[in-house]
Amino acid sequence: MSANENAEVTSSGDVGIDVSVLKEGNLVIIFVVGGPGSGKGTQCAKIVEKYGFTQLSAGDLLRAEVASGSERSKEFNEVMEKGELLPMSAVLELLKEAMVAKAADTNGFVMDGYPREIIQGVEFEKQVKDCSFVLYFELAEEVMKERLMKRAATSDRVDDNEETMLKRLRTFSDVTMPVIDHYRDKLKTISAAGTIEEVFEETCKTLDECLPS
Ligand code: AP5
Ligand code: MG
Repeated sequence: MSANENAEVTSSGDVGIDVSVLKEGNLVIIFVVGGPGSGKGTQCAKIVEKYGFTQLSAGDLLRAEVASGSERSKEFNEVMEKGELLPMSAVLELLKEAMVAKAADTNGFVMDGYPREIIQGVEFEKQVKDCSFVLYFELAEEVMKERLMKRAATSDRVDDNEETMLKRLRTFSDVTMPVIDHYRDKLKTISAAGTIEEVFEETCKTLDECLPS
């Protein structure tokens, strides 16, 4: 049973997890946004390798929850199959639990796919800590589609099919794009159109400029 299963969930998604270990330390928090297939996961994994951060993918945490067969897993799976967003309270709970568990042995967190709507960012910063900056992997929709269709050939993700992919793209443009404007003062836009190595080179330049030395 999760340690927080009995905690009271408020409408803001604050489940009462003790996050003081996150507030007190000098942990760097990087929000990472970008459309489906823009390469968030690929680049975050490379950042982890080079900078000693911890990657937290809301999508991966949600898929793990589905795989666990928990009570809410069916509902989660249905929402992901539709290409829609899960309720903020559920996502924040999973993220905070994972962050607290890793806080002692990491330099910081790259939040792969978070926030996806403005309220997610606002609540995270209220409950946990301000983000240092926001990385936005910018890519044309056509290229995102191509990359996702290629991955779909071998993927076992419930949302890697043409119909759901189009819905994910719509959710991104309707709900997540406003996040980019909301964080314009902290926004670091990276073109995700090059090869994986080219994009990573640009990512490193940005991180080297922005991270505390
Ligand atoms: P999530 O798992 O985050 O999926 P996504 O945002 O749709 O993005 P992907 O993981 O498919 O793509 P990516 O940008 O990570 O690209 P990748 O590196 O894999 O979310 C899934 C679902 O969970 C959501 O739809 C929602 O339901 C729910 N959810 C998640 N977060 C949530 C939140 N905060 N709130 C509520 N609900 C949430 O690359 C894609 C492919 O391209 C790979 O095959 C890769 O090898 C290839 N590739 C990568 N870079 C390059 C390159 N430079 N050149 C060529 N190919 C490349
Ligand atoms: Mg991903």
